[in-house]
Amino acid sequence: MSQKLADKTALITGSSRGIGRAVALAFAKEGAGLIGVHYTANPDAAQSTTRDIEALGVKAVAVQADLRQGKQAADNLCAQFSEAARAETGSAGLDILVNNAGIAPAVPLKHTTEAVFDEVMTINYKAPFFLIQAVADHIRDNGRIVNVSTGFTRIAAPTHPAYAASKGALETLTLALAPDFATRGITVNAVMPGVTETDMNAEWLASPEARASAEALSVFSRVGRADDVADVIAFLASNDARWTTGQIIDATGGARI
Ligand SMILES: NC(=O)c1ccc[n+]([C@@H]2O[C@H](COP(=O)([O-])OP(=O)(O)OC[C@H]3O[C@@H](n4cnc5c(N)ncnc54)[C@H](OP(=O)(O)O)[C@@H]3O)[C@@H](O)[C@H]2O)c1
Repeated sequence: MSQKLADKTALITGSSRGIGRAVALAFAKEGAGLIGVHYTANPDAAQSTTRDIEALGVKAVAVQADLRQGKQAADNLCAQFSEAARAETGSAGLDILVNNAGIAPAVPLKHTTEAVFDEVMTINYKAPFFLIQAVADHIRDNGRIVNVSTGFTRIAAPTHPAYAASKGALETLTLALAPDFATRGITVNAVMPGVTETDMNAEWLASPEARASAEALSVFSRVGRADDVADVIAFLASNDARWTTGQIIDATGGARI
């Protein structure tokens, strides 16, 4: 087994399920030292992820925060994880932050209420912004920040305008922050998944017609798996990606190229 993340401390938001869980397991397989499994409403799913990480011989802690609370949740999450990291490793230092938690309501412009808009922008953009701000003093030299975006910033998505725009803001933030973090060897990148087999899509992918059209988006003629995306994130988190920063990496399976 390669150990590209040997002894690294990582915090992954929304890693109870889906892509975040796959990222946590990919990091554990690469020998991470401690993984923070952040969740909101599913403690059982978070515990299942921490157990699976521990089964790979890696320390894991579950940390809860509802990112609908924006900066307050980001500060609380950072404080909780720093305390846990100090207890587990003797240091509050962090090597890798993955801003993965997100929601993607399918609401066209006409039906987007202010409440939906605010919730999407808060979870997908405001909370990652303030989480990066909160961890900035804890993140070690040569650390990694990876933000999870969406292919909908490249492919027009009239079904999800607020969602697509929230991720567009996250991508712009990725570029804006890269120079300052680079002074300490820290890279800041984003990954854009395409349609990926997770709970987020389970309902609409249950329809054979919808699944066929989702499969047809990719040049590989299938829907993505969470580990297809997680492996790209694990690469960006590793030393192998030290020369890549401020970039938006496509992990859509060549959707509509
Ligand atoms: N799946 C796709 O096709 C796809 C495509 C493009 C981009 N993405 C992006 O990839 C990321 C992960 O998506 P996914 O499909 O893995 O999602 P998912 O299966 O729905 O899991 C969502 C994760 O985010 C957490 N979460 C939900 N609401 C939250 C809140 N208010 N505060 C904090 N955490 C919250 C959940 O925690 P609980 O378990 O506690 O609820 C869960 O861990 C998202 O940013 C999404 O936009 C996904």
